[in-house]
Parts: sequence; C-alpha cells; structure tokens
Amino acid sequence: MCGIVGVVGNENATDILIQGLEKLEYRGYDSAGIFVAGKGAGSLVKSVGRIADLSAKVGDKLEGTAGIGHTRWATHGKPSEVNAHPHQSQTERLTLVHNGVIENYLEIKEKYLADHELKGQTDTEIAVHLMGRFVQEGLSTLEAFKKALHLIQGSYAFALMDAEDADTIYVAKNKSPLLIGLGDGYNMVCSDAMAMIRETSEYMEIHDKELVIVKKDSVQVMDYEGNAIERGSYIAELDLSDIGKGTYPYYMLKEIDEQPTVMRKLIQAYTDENGAVAVDSAIISAVKECDRIYIIAAGTSYHAGFASKMMLEELTGKPVELGIASEWGYGMPLLSQKPLFIFISQSGETADSRQVLVKVNELGFPSLTVTNVPGSTLSREASHTMILHAGPEIAVASTKAYTAQIATLAFLAKAVGEAMDNEKAKSFDLVHELSLVAQSIESTLSEKELIEGKVKELLETTRNAFYIGRGNDYYVAMEASLKLKEISYIQCEGFAAGELKHGTISLIEDGTPVLALISANPVIASHARGNVSEVVARGAQVLTIVEEGVEQEGDDIILNKVHPYLSSISMVIPTQLIAYYACLHRGLDVDKPRNLAKSVTVE
Ligand code: M6R
Repeated sequence: MCGIVGVVGNENATDILIQGLEKLEYRGYDSAGIFVAGKGAGSLVKSVGRIADLSAKVGDKLEGTAGIGHTRWATHGKPSEVNAHPHQSQTERLTLVHNGVIENYLEIKEKYLADHELKGQTDTEIAVHLMGRFVQEGLSTLEAFKKALHLIQGSYAFALMDAEDADTIYVAKNKSPLLIGLGDGYNMVCSDAMAMIRETSEYMEIHDKELVIVKKDSVQVMDYEGNAIERGSYIAELDLSDIGKGTYPYYMLKEIDEQPTVMRKLIQAYTDENGAVAVDSAIISAVKECDRIYIIAAGTSYHAGFASKMMLEELTGKPVELGIASEWGYGMPLLSQKPLFIFISQSGETADSRQVLVKVNELGFPSLTVTNVPGSTLSREASHTMILHAGPEIAVASTKAYTAQIATLAFLAKAVGEAMDNEKAKSFDLVHELSLVAQSIESTLSEKELIEGKVKELLETTRNAFYIGRGNDYYVAMEASLKLKEISYIQCEGFAAGELKHGTISLIEDGTPVLALISANPVIASHARGNVSEVVARGAQVLTIVEEGVEQEGDDIILNKVHPYLSSISMVIPTQLIAYYACLHRGLDVDKPRNLAKSVTVE
C-alpha cells in the first residue's frame, strides 16, 4: 500500500531510488515519483502508471546524492500526476512522501491552510503544506515537522526533504512500516528491507511515533518531544535471488512452483535434530493456557485460518473462532475468559489486523503472529511469532503464503496436542504427512498443461463462476474463488455446496462454470456429488477436482490423497493454477492486478 524509498549521501541516488521503487512496486502501482537533490536545485519527476514509465521519464538526466521516491496505491484522489508523490509545500522548499491515511486532513486544511492553493486531492499534500506553513512562520524544518506530527492523526510513514539542506531526510512513522538501511558512507530509508538488499544488509527499526534524522553518516532517533532514543542496528541476510523472477514469466507462477520446497523448509524449521516436532515452549504454553483461540486475519490469510480450524480444534481441544480483521476493529464480540489471539498475516503489516492487535494488547491478552516477515509490525507487537519460511512473496495474489500458513499451524497444533497428551496429535505423523503433501503438490504441478487446457474451455470468456465444496473443501472454495476473481476479474463465489439449493442455485444457467472440490471423505464426497448433479441438471458446465479414493470416471483433475488435516494445502494448488491461466488467457497482468496492492497498510 504505497512504497517509500529514500537515500542520502550516494552519488547514484537516482538509480537507487528507481531500483528501490521497482522492488516496492508490489505495494502499489498506479503512479510514482522521485525527488532528487544534492547537485544544484532539487528535481521532481512524477508519472502515472508503472515504475518503468517513471524511469523512462527520468532518463539519465537526474543527478544528485540524495532523494526520496514513492510508488502509489491511491486512497485520496484518483491516480494522476498531481496526486502522485512526492508532494511539495507552497514555496516548494519542502518535499514529502507518505504511506498511510491522515484521518483529520480536512480539519487541518480548514484550520491551517484556508489560504493555500492545493493542486490535487491527497491528504499528503495537506501535510506538506502544513509543514511548509510552519517553516514560513519561522520554525526550523525539524521543529515544523515535529509540530505537524503533533497535529496529524492517522497512519503514516513520512520521508521529508528540505531543498535548503540536501544532506538530510526527516522520517517519522505511525502504524505504517518504515525502516532505515545503513550503508557504507550513505544511509537509506525504505518501506521494506527487500528494496535495500542490493545496498545493505544492516537495518535499524523505527517504532511508532518516533522521528528520525537521517544523514549520510548518522542516524538520530528521537520521540516527538525531541528526546533522544538509543537504537541498535541488526543484520538481516536476505537473498537477492529470492526476490528475482529467474526464468519465470511471472512471480505468481514461480511462487506456486516453490510450494513443495516451502513445505520441506517448514519441516526443517519446526523439527529438532531427532526429527521430532519442535515449537517454542512459550507458544505451546500460551495455547495450553487459553480457553479459546481467536484467529484474526484478512483475505487469503483469513481463509488459511478457516482451513486450519478443524485441525487446531481436534489436536489442541481448544475451540477456534475466526474474525475478519476489518470487522473486529470496530468492536470485539463477547470474549471467553482466557482468550489467545492468533494473527495470520503474510506481510505482518496489514493495518486491519494491526488495529485488532492494538486492542488485544490494551486488554492485556496474549497473542501469536504467524507471518512470513520477521520483524514486521504484527510480529514485533504480538507476544509470540511463528515464521512461515516461505521466502518473499511478491505476486499480489498470495499462494505459497497460504499453504505455508496452514502447514505452520499444523506444527503448532501437533506440538500443543502432543504436550497435552492428545491421542490424535500423538498418532498424527506430521513430518511424514507433510512430505506426502509436498509430493502431491509436485504431481499437480506436473499437470499444468492439462489444467491450462481446462481453463481455456471453461474460463476464457465467462463473466462468472462458482467454486463449491463441503467441509474443508468449502474453505478452499472461498480461497480459490478469491484467487480467481482477484487476478482474472471473473465474478466468482466460493460456496458451501449444500447451501446452493437455498437460493443461489437460481444463478446457475446454461454454461455457468461450476468448479467442484471433492476431497476423500466418503460422506462429504457423496453429498458433494449430489450437489454437482443438481447444478448439472440446471445446465452448469462442471469441472471436478477430486482426491484419489473418491474419484469417478469423467473427473477432470485427480489429486493424490493426503491427510485430511492437510488436504486444503494440496486441494488449493490446482485452483491457484486455474486462476493463473485464466488471467493469462484473458491477457491480464498476473502479478499486479488492477486496484490492488500486496501489503494493505490502510484500514
Ligand atoms: O499480508 P496479509 O496476509 O495480512 O494480507 C491479507 C490480505 O490482504 C491478503 O491475503 C490478500 O487477500 C491476498 N493478497 C490475496 O491473494
């Protein structure tokens, strides 16, 4: 949800900014801009569209040693050059980039900027005009920034430059991610370490409501009153090859293909030298001590929570309730006496989930974040963290994170169940079963041609479709349908197969594509088959994805049978490929679907 990069003290500032923005493009891609200073007057270049458009516009004419850049996902005002960041103060002395949403921007505009002429509709432009006004009134840039930070309410990561001092970037954050990268003779600021790994592996965290003065040879952290804060740095050895596409045409396909490896990495990460499941004992105790688990998440991560519910309940004996993060932000339902909150989030930055975590912390309840990004906001602020070990997920459509989330929760469920002497947990050979899942995924991945052919027949031109399933297959249907609509723009519903006949079946007509998911539970399978017959009788064109053991003649995609606790992992793979090929055949952008961003850091 918008990406920020900044650098100070480097001759190649423009290149660093453009390359950083390319790596941040997954966070927003409707428009972008950079401000470069240090050699003569600062220059501002903005463009609608992708970073490639910005880069073409910048060419090789911008020289400087410092600058800030931004890639945008519009919140206030449509994507356009005037609304693209960076924004400048009235005199153009101050230049600002921002990620987040300023809640009281209209109030600020009315109270402080009635006589200011604003060019666009963004809350950010109001923020920089406010800072500029304070400078015009005689404050130093630092004091003006501080004063504005006291007035601004909402979420933000800010990077501010002053044309009269090209050696400094002023930075502050609240509820939006931002960190410092420490280079050799220069320093950086960025929304995500991934965009700085070419330059450095040494980083420094910024906490909410901290202000940082970044110069080429110093980084000063302080609170909004100006009191100095000591902050050490840390080394994170990220692998550059992880963030490249390699020979793949799209990140999504690469990430789909990586899933067997991720399953094996998780086995390594959550077993000890004897091959026994090993999860942090403090996390096991937290689950043992709770009387109910509340899983809070959004989108695909929410679906992963559902897919893990039965397994968690059966192995830990604790009831599991799911909450959509954006809804729970308004108010909690009646909670149990000893709740444990589990936040599932690939990015660890989702603002909707974070607002619930803030409340959970205020209430003093324990929490666990299950995330792909160590050091992310949700990880830092929760009592405990489990890492997904999926490697960077760059495509907006989440694939390997979903399967890693279910597998990670399986390790948690198994470890807690064993610690509680649960018979089912003791007899569940997770390491073996997950190895079988990895094999099953590999076998599905070898059927890409078959799947692509089915997609061409069924989904190349349709406007709508249904995924149906029962039990855990219903939860997979929810995820499969999100994936399909997210990147192919086909209106698709994930439906409990048995619920169709209670109303929605009236939408089925000649040729409506219905994709049925049927895993190897004989009772569920036989009921699901009945529902398939009902839609066939009404003209639906059906594609069946079926686990071995309950297959029938004419089924389209047959999957290896895996343990029921893990069948959602194997069942989702063909649906990821279906979404991928549907998008490809409709000529759409696989990795960057319209209107979306990878990391949703606004509420
Ligand atoms: O980073 P998170 O897992 O918290 O993100 C939550 C959702 O925004 C995310 O899962 C989204 O639904 C996916 N990108 C969809 O593929």
